[in-house]
Amino acid sequence: MKILHISAECYPIAKVGGLADVVGALPKYQNSKNVTSQVIMPFYNNKFTKENKFIEEFKSVVKLGETAFEYRIVSIENNTLGYDLFLVDIPELLFKEYVYSNDDTDRFLAFQIAALDWVLTWKKKPTIIQCHDHHTGLTPFMISQSLKYKDLNKIPTIFTIHNAQYQGWFSHDKVGLIPEFDFSNVGLLDWGGCINPMAAALKCAWRVNTVSPSYMEELKLSANGLEWLLNDESAKCVGILNGIDTDVWNPEKDTYLIKNYSIKTVQSGRNAQKKWLCDEFNLDFEKPLFAFIGRLVGEKGSDLFPEVFRNALINKDISILLLGSGNKDVEEQLEKLKEEHKGVYNAYIGYDEKLSHIIYGGADFLLMPSRVEPCGLNQMYALRYGTIPIVRNIGGLKDTVIDISEENGFGICHQNVTVSEIVHAISRGLDLYKNQTKFKKIRKQIMSIDHSWDASAKEYIKLYKSLKG
Ligand code: ADP
Ligand code: GLC
Repeated sequence: MKILHISAECYPIAKVGGLADVVGALPKYQNSKNVTSQVIMPFYNNKFTKENKFIEEFKSVVKLGETAFEYRIVSIENNTLGYDLFLVDIPELLFKEYVYSNDDTDRFLAFQIAALDWVLTWKKKPTIIQCHDHHTGLTPFMISQSLKYKDLNKIPTIFTIHNAQYQGWFSHDKVGLIPEFDFSNVGLLDWGGCINPMAAALKCAWRVNTVSPSYMEELKLSANGLEWLLNDESAKCVGILNGIDTDVWNPEKDTYLIKNYSIKTVQSGRNAQKKWLCDEFNLDFEKPLFAFIGRLVGEKGSDLFPEVFRNALINKDISILLLGSGNKDVEEQLEKLKEEHKGVYNAYIGYDEKLSHIIYGGADFLLMPSRVEPCGLNQMYALRYGTIPIVRNIGGLKDTVIDISEENGFGICHQNVTVSEIVHAISRGLDLYKNQTKFKKIRKQIMSIDHSWDASAKEYIKLYKSLKG
């Protein structure tokens, strides 16, 4: 069985969020389970493409409507990823410093067409093509409808929804950019008067999956306008929980950490990271450290942070550290807060992979008060590193964290995303911290939970086997 993953992101080549982590890890685990798994993604102008050498696999011209763009497909010269990776290099469109920009409709459409044009030339075609999120959502449509891809239309497609908030909408004025198809089927592209790549994928893919079982159920009730469609297509929908790459996320070997540690050496190991964090960010080592890592967007509840932090820091013996970027107004407020709460609060506004690893290794608690969380990887990284998650009971968070009030519970859960509930959850964390015997016991318990890809990779194989091309 040969699976081709098509995605805008893949760690370590280009990462904006969890999508990259998943596409960078799942194929490796699949390859270890007798499935040949490959990834195709755009060639960006970033650190990875600057620092690596590439081999040209294919060269051609991709047509976007009437405009033609030269492109090539390359692979990495010394590939140690554990799976084949191909990059689509369309200099005029894709070669940018950032993954996403304001002309993404054209960029990702050209990417998908270029990728499929190349696959058309393969002698041994993929058994299944798995598309990740809306950037690749037109692939199932083009494979099943575009005349030039009729030789691919027996290849089953899977569409994986990592986040249904973003659907890639664009105007019907651009329909001419999609390779020719029988126009009586244009309705397959449409949702609410726009071309909607995510909706088109839900209609045309052979199977659809979300990245956690709870998220699939939640989407049937509320999916930014797609709930009715998801209910209608529910027979082909399933939720499969993400795993984590335990080669990358392993406190015993993580090269980003100040000091490596195992369950046995957790105390000294975590103290080393916490001390580094407290020195670096002027925080008190003796106080429990509550951290947040992530995108500062409404989905993550980040607009409430300034008020939550102000309230949580009143009369409470805690420190707070934030790593993230996103909404400019929230960023500004979080920067300002530094002046008001010197010594107990600090923030790094930006993206820093190394710092994120040290925070997972040194903070006592990780906050995730998400309004929406399709899966969430942060809580699983936190668990593996011994940081207790404080999460809102939703999506993948609901599927991976059990409240300490329940049998074998190990995290703190709250039901709603309100300032008072988040502050209350932080107080519960403080109470737990005060009971050091229980706190330390839970820390060891969470480090041994298995969230590796093994179980989920098997679920995907089951899904693939349910498809006959
Ligand atoms: P999402 O994909 O919705 O942002 P996930 O929990 O699935 O959320 O994954 C987020 C990933 O991005 C994790 O690997 C997390 O550590 C990382 N991350 C998010 N923001 C930052 C940041 N500012 N610096 C470093 N890593 C970050
Ligand atoms: C999306 C979701 C996140 C999920 C990630 C990987 O970015 O927001 O919850 O973990 O994809 O599937």
